[in-house]
Amino acid sequence: MKAVALVNKNFFNKKNNNNIYNVNLSGVNLNCGVVDIPKPHFDNKHYKNDNYVLIRVLSFSCNYRDKGIILKSALRMNSGNTYNQMPVSFFGSDFVGIVEEIGKNVSRFNIGDRVIPNCSYPKADNDTAAPGVVTNEASKGWLRINEAKLIAIDDSMDDDIAAGFSIGGQTSESMIRRTHIHEGQKALVLSARSNTSLFIINGLLKRNIDTTIMSTTDWSSEELSIVNGAHYIKISRNSKCWPDDIGKFDVIFDPFFDLHLSDAVKHLNINGRYITCGYKNQHDNFKESTDYLHENNLSRIMIQSMINNLSIMGNCIGTTEDLKRAISKYSRSMKPFRIYDTLSSESIDKFINETYNLRQRFGKVIMKY
Ligand SMILES: NC(=O)c1ccc[n+]([C@@H]2O[C@H](COP(=O)([O-])OP(=O)(O)OC[C@H]3O[C@@H](n4cnc5c(N)ncnc54)[C@H](OP(=O)(O)O)[C@@H]3O)[C@@H](O)[C@H]2O)c1
Repeated sequence: MKAVALVNKNFFNKKNNNNIYNVNLSGVNLNCGVVDIPKPHFDNKHYKNDNYVLIRVLSFSCNYRDKGIILKSALRMNSGNTYNQMPVSFFGSDFVGIVEEIGKNVSRFNIGDRVIPNCSYPKADNDTAAPGVVTNEASKGWLRINEAKLIAIDDSMDDDIAAGFSIGGQTSESMIRRTHIHEGQKALVLSARSNTSLFIINGLLKRNIDTTIMSTTDWSSEELSIVNGAHYIKISRNSKCWPDDIGKFDVIFDPFFDLHLSDAVKHLNINGRYITCGYKNQHDNFKESTDYLHENNLSRIMIQSMINNLSIMGNCIGTTEDLKRAISKYSRSMKPFRIYDTLSSESIDKFINETYNLRQRFGKVIMKY
């Protein structure tokens, strides 16, 4: 199978360097390319494969979390120290694939089933699997995975959507469940253009929650029509505070606490809940000169929380039930995110560029094998 990867120029024949594509990511040059990955041998009688299946990836996508992982791999590859250098490095955490081989205790899947990751956290679905994200190497194309870390999907979900579904679906349903938000309450979703927020907005609108969305990006009328029913607030990336007149909310959903926590607690009603699943500066190279504008002052945050009986919650992914609920709520007519682009392996540079460097990206960029 042709698979995309970061490639180390030092390990490649000079003649092949024409097939290496360069992309800039947070000031670091990435060398990307297409490599041949043969189907690995999978011994279905070996006890180590008892609970495992071999997956052939059909399509995959990257999340914000993968940006830091990609950057770390590239920096290690670019370093002068040959002991640290890898010849290739794969990436990507969401995928859809086909079960090609199964171990002898596998009971949930048959060969030919179409599956996506189940990142169940904090507990995996059985004791032989670890909780959390299933892979950071979806681009490798062939993946050996414990059956507890997968879930089957039916034909109602296309490959493009399935390839970007699990982490956003599982996380957004967990966040909505844990805040106990219900009809009649008001929600604010921050960094609304992020894929995670698009999932959350979709989940809230499907539950008839009064939803306001805040974004630092201009949305076209077509994009706004996708979140029809939500109130849109545009803020500047370079302003110190939010506008005062936006009112107060019962629940605030935030994918980047280092950008918003201070402002968010000021805009919660008594007994309000703030929930976050991430932060911007996941790598030192992501730091910006304007970060001081968003500094979180712990004393101020805690005083505000105490006086108003607020709950501040962290959230990491979600349970299998959360993922099942996300899948059951999926509808073709009200998809949780849009496909910004679907690309093939020769467009690996475009894939990275659109995923991480394009401010106007709305939705997911999918790599189709
Ligand atoms: N813990 C978990 O289980 C979990 C699961 C899923 C996601 N997450 C976290 O959720 C967050 C979002 O992930 P994602 O993959 O959905 O992200 P994404 O789609 O890449 O997010 C892009 C959006 O984030 C905002 N943004 C990005 N860089 C920014 C900057 N420098 N300044 C201001 N805003 C910026 C912008 O929103 P606007 O244009 O609307 O302002 C941008 O459109 C990440 O922190 C990720 O780690 C965590």
